[in-house]
Amino acid sequence: MPLNTPIERWYGLRVWLVGASSGVGLALAEQLHAAGAQVIVSARRQAILEDFAKSHPGSQALSLDVTDRQAVINAVMQLVDEAPLDLVCYCAGQHQTMQADDLDLNALLQQREVALIGALHLFAAVTPHLLAAARAGRHPHLSLVASVAGLRGLPGNLAYGPSQAALINLAETLQLELPPQGVGVSLAVVKPGLVATPFTEPHPGTQPPWAQPEQAASAMLQGWARGSFQLALPWRSKLGRRSGQATSAPGFFAWLRRLQGN
Ligand SMILES: NC(=O)c1ccc[n+]([C@@H]2O[C@H](COP(=O)([O-])OP(=O)(O)OC[C@H]3O[C@@H](n4cnc5c(N)ncnc54)[C@H](OP(=O)(O)O)[C@@H]3O)[C@@H](O)[C@H]2O)c1
Repeated sequence: MPLNTPIERWYGLRVWLVGASSGVGLALAEQLHAAGAQVIVSARRQAILEDFAKSHPGSQALSLDVTDRQAVINAVMQLVDEAPLDLVCYCAGQHQTMQADDLDLNALLQQREVALIGALHLFAAVTPHLLAAARAGRHPHLSLVASVAGLRGLPGNLAYGPSQAALINLAETLQLELPPQGVGVSLAVVKPGLVATPFTEPHPGTQPPWAQPEQAASAMLQGWARGSFQLALPWRSKLGRRSGQATSAPGFFAWLRRLQGN
């Protein structure tokens, strides 16, 4: 029994991708448009969004900074005034490697603003409308993209990891609450945490192997079609397996320290 109403056909569905000027969000926009969805792309870089809208008939560009709470509210009002939304997917994120002995609190808080607070701005503004759409007989869906860095502590992820952990917890909590009221909830935990996008540049030629954003996007479409909560991405790595909570904390830390050579 799927946890969400499966989305197998996209023709005519209205989807809003937040964080869609590059990477996974842009790959999703391409694939969902090709599947017949009416795609709305949001991020800060307006020129890229407008190029997408021009080259993808029926799609729409809506520039947005997710850290601006009022701007998110305004964007939601504008979109739901036009027509109901069937899928809202939060792909916005920033990553800057940071360690405890090289702390930049402002940069840490900025990453949290985009990864977590922006998601809360969006969730708070859009959920009442998704619930209303569900009461009207539609099957709306809210999806979050997070990282394996939120499952376990990982080196260099002092700024990034805690927000990702909160994002995963938010998605799990929403999965308990919203589907019984007709709104699907899903979570893509990007494994092994290293899809080759601007997010992870420069891409060193080291393991784990790089995946392409198109692979992440097509795995997400497959997960939505199955009605899954966790949109499991297809590739496997030692990092992905070890990051599971089944590995004990001492075992996990010992494995990471061996990898790091200390
Ligand atoms: N790539 C990976 O290996 C990897 C691993 C784990 C998790 N993830 C997660 O996957 C998601 C997408 O990452 P990606 O790899 O596709 O990275 P990406 O190509 O850098 O995309 C990030 C997107 O977020 C947008 N964004 C950043 N700040 C924003 C803001 N203040 N307001 C609105 N949009 C903003 C960016 O657009 P603008 O700059 O135009 O605003 C861009 O469209 C993120 O949540 C990330 O945590 C990625």
